[in-house]
Amino acid sequence: MAELLTAGVVGTGMYVPEKVLTNADLEKMVDTNDEWITSRVGIKERRIAAPGETTSSMGAAAARAALADAGITAAEVDLIITATITPDMPWPSTACFIQRALGATRAACFDVEAACTGFVYALSLARNYVATGMYRTVLVVAAETLSRITDWEDRNTAVLFGDAAGAAVIKAVAPPAGILATHLGADGSKGELLEMPGGGSRHPTSHETVEARMHFIRMKGNEVFKHAARAMAHSNSEVLAKAGITIDQVDLLIPHQANMRIIEAAARLSKLPMEKVYLNLMHYGNTSAATTAVALAEARRDKRVGPGSLCLLVAFGGGFTWGACLLRL
Ligand code: UT7
Repeated sequence: MAELLTAGVVGTGMYVPEKVLTNADLEKMVDTNDEWITSRVGIKERRIAAPGETTSSMGAAAARAALADAGITAAEVDLIITATITPDMPWPSTACFIQRALGATRAACFDVEAACTGFVYALSLARNYVATGMYRTVLVVAAETLSRITDWEDRNTAVLFGDAAGAAVIKAVAPPAGILATHLGADGSKGELLEMPGGGSRHPTSHETVEARMHFIRMKGNEVFKHAARAMAHSNSEVLAKAGITIDQVDLLIPHQANMRIIEAAARLSKLPMEKVYLNLMHYGNTSAATTAVALAEARRDKRVGPGSLCLLVAFGGGFTWGACLLRL
């Protein structure tokens, strides 16, 4: 077999909708308060897509920014992988809608569904396509319109989620840059702890599924909480061991942004000080697959990391799924 190439991130971009929904706004919608949300979760505000906006329109905006950052035209893209649990529609894939919006006519397209771990899963796939030489230029887009599947009458979940999109361009790079290792995990026996049960082949859409509010996110929050920090710390140690890197060499941990207390626990278990942890959940809330993609784009844009920086992306979500990606810029 031919020698493997080293795949790396050569451009990133992000998009968030204009509309800001603050904790004070939520106080008028459900029985909650800023103090509870801030202290239990760490979110102050989140973004909400405008009526015309969709996962693909936000994803395309993030993708355009990533392509511009990489200095690449849409015509050069060989493959678009979109990570989302809120596709524009069950099919065609959101990646196909993004292809159309970008005019990336040469690109193959598919979606990946690994909930909040979707960006890490998609990066791992993109890395393999580039490393084997099957595709030269892969566009990974993580985009979510969670506001459309949020039960705005359920205070347990309504305060947590937001809409956003992030994107990354993956190409062959010269070492020491590159994706050094990835680790993916899943436990399908815990699926019902975090799910949207309605609308598929198990519970096809009907008046009953709508009345039973089965087309909204359902989460047993404290059960998810118990697993999240441990699984992310596990992925961190697996990916570091694979790459032969120690945690103190990591410049920035970019964790899934679901809950400040989960992030703090994961950082503590991984023995990483919070100064080396990227946080933006106070601004955007939990945007599922998009959190790590947006955070990586922001951290590069704001020069929190730059060429040579060692970044550790880690996520946990529905499925359960979890995973990490160790990356030198
Ligand atoms: O993205 C994928 C992964 N998702 C996650 O990682 C989310 C994981 N879970 C969490 O982040 C947390 O479990 C939550 C933030 C969802 C909830 O925090 P918690 O500390 O686990 O609270 P809880 O569910 O045990 O509820 C504690 C109390 C309850 O009241 P009682 O029964 O003790 O009287 C809830 O009814 O807080 C109450 N509560 C609220 N109070 C004010 C729940 N939601 C709210 C709210 N405002 N929005």
